[in-house]
Amino acid sequence: MKITKICCIGAGYVGGPTMAVIAQKCPHIQVTVVDLNAERIAAWNDEDLNNIPIYEPGLDAIVGEARGRNLFFSTEVEKAIDEAQIIFISVNTPTKTYGKGKGMAADLKYIELCARQIAKIAKDDKIVVEKSTLPVRTAEAIKSILDNTGNGVQFQILSNPEFLAEGTAVQDLLNPDRILIGGDTTAEGQEAIQTLVDVYANWVPVDKILTTNVWSSELSKLTANAFLAQRISSINAMSELCEKTGADVNEVARAIGMDSRIGPKFLKASVGFGGSCFQKDILNLVYIAKSYGLNEVADYWEQVIIMNDHQKRRFSSNIVQTLYNTVSDKKITFLGWAFKKDTNDTRESAAIYVADDLINENAKIAVYDPKVSRKKILADLDYLESRKAENNANAILSFEDPYEACKEAHAIAVLTEWDEFAQYDWQRIYDSMQKPAFVFDGRNVLEGAVLEKIGFIYQGIGS
Ligand code: UDX
Ligand code: ADP
Repeated sequence: MKITKICCIGAGYVGGPTMAVIAQKCPHIQVTVVDLNAERIAAWNDEDLNNIPIYEPGLDAIVGEARGRNLFFSTEVEKAIDEAQIIFISVNTPTKTYGKGKGMAADLKYIELCARQIAKIAKDDKIVVEKSTLPVRTAEAIKSILDNTGNGVQFQILSNPEFLAEGTAVQDLLNPDRILIGGDTTAEGQEAIQTLVDVYANWVPVDKILTTNVWSSELSKLTANAFLAQRISSINAMSELCEKTGADVNEVARAIGMDSRIGPKFLKASVGFGGSCFQKDILNLVYIAKSYGLNEVADYWEQVIIMNDHQKRRFSSNIVQTLYNTVSDKKITFLGWAFKKDTNDTRESAAIYVADDLINENAKIAVYDPKVSRKKILADLDYLESRKAENNANAILSFEDPYEACKEAHAIAVLTEWDEFAQYDWQRIYDSMQKPAFVFDGRNVLEGAVLEKIGFIYQGIGS
């Protein structure tokens, strides 16, 4: 099949950057990204590239180059589906908040709606690609809907999970470790796989493009995220032991990371992992294992989440305990709110849970994050439904300037590892704070010895 038109349903964190890079690298293919959310589409079309809805280093330049040439953002979902030969589904699959599997299973509502819409509109054969993270065997459900409600046209379903990480999305898309494409073992399935391989081969070396059956591809995505999250929970578990024994978790991580079988990445102890994927995918894995009666498998992976929750709670309890067992009416400054640096995404950020705990203790939280707005911070807290919205609004002070945020504070907590935090004039910050001045470094990004010399009482994670 010669591909001239691709459509992507969902203009979010996955769909937007992925399609921008496909469009940049395949100028002969017209790529249309559609979304029901008109505000989001308008932002993607904003003349000022600073206003595109997702902040990723390098993304603005790529959108600037391809938009209007062969990259389009639109709310005309049906038209785009009708015209495309390949349709990517990149809609959100949040954890279910109701019914069976509540709090664990992925909610496939949006996926099913997409499948029904594709079935209704398609008048010629199409390749449908699952891009969102999905439970194993979702392709089967999509196929069943398409075949039973469609107009008799042929659909091939491929699984092509996204491994990009936020903050490095553009680099991950331009130079991926691998591209994974799963499809049917039939001749038609293999042909569809090859069609998608040819799209990626415009810029990815073919030895990095793996093809598998559809179930392996779906499960590989969950497995990759579970393994990565497990490494963080493992090092975080050791961080607590380090604090008790006098070992330093950074030294331990370095020592084990030099073992080539272990490797150095994803061994940074922290206040806990966040982001839209790790927790959601592991909960989903746990749910799937349970649904097959594999309770030991489910318990094994659930422990990764339990450890992560413990790490966040331990951080907030330690702040309260260190500040003489009360933070009531004390100003505590958060440096960072995003779930990691170089992104404006806050989903499942540890900062939300630490703030929630401290607000329960009547603290006032001053927040400075270079990319996160006050509106977003309050929305994150309101989503927890721990208290009335007005009480969150009263407890949160937000600042555009870090020095203002730190003024008169009793303590500073580093929640995100933004590079700029290490560059601040810490003497100036110290001089403006209440004494004793505490720093709780939830990311181990500041130089403890330098801060202690200035006069701070400094506590990192795991030392
Ligand atoms: C992750 C996967 O890396 C990516 O492949 C997948 O497609 C989506 O999920 P992402 O959530 O964007 O990507 O961020 P990632 O860099 O994996 O970080 C997740 C969380 O773990 C962040 O909160 C980060 O701060 C934390 N982290 C990461 C640590 O605490 N320590 C580490 O060593 C690494
Ligand atoms: P992800 O991180 O997986 O990309 P996001 O929540 O950032 O998730 O983006 C998913 C997008 O999919 C949202 O902008 C949402 O409006 C869009 N969406 C969900 N269902 C549909 C649908 N049926 N048609 C078009 N867009 C949809």
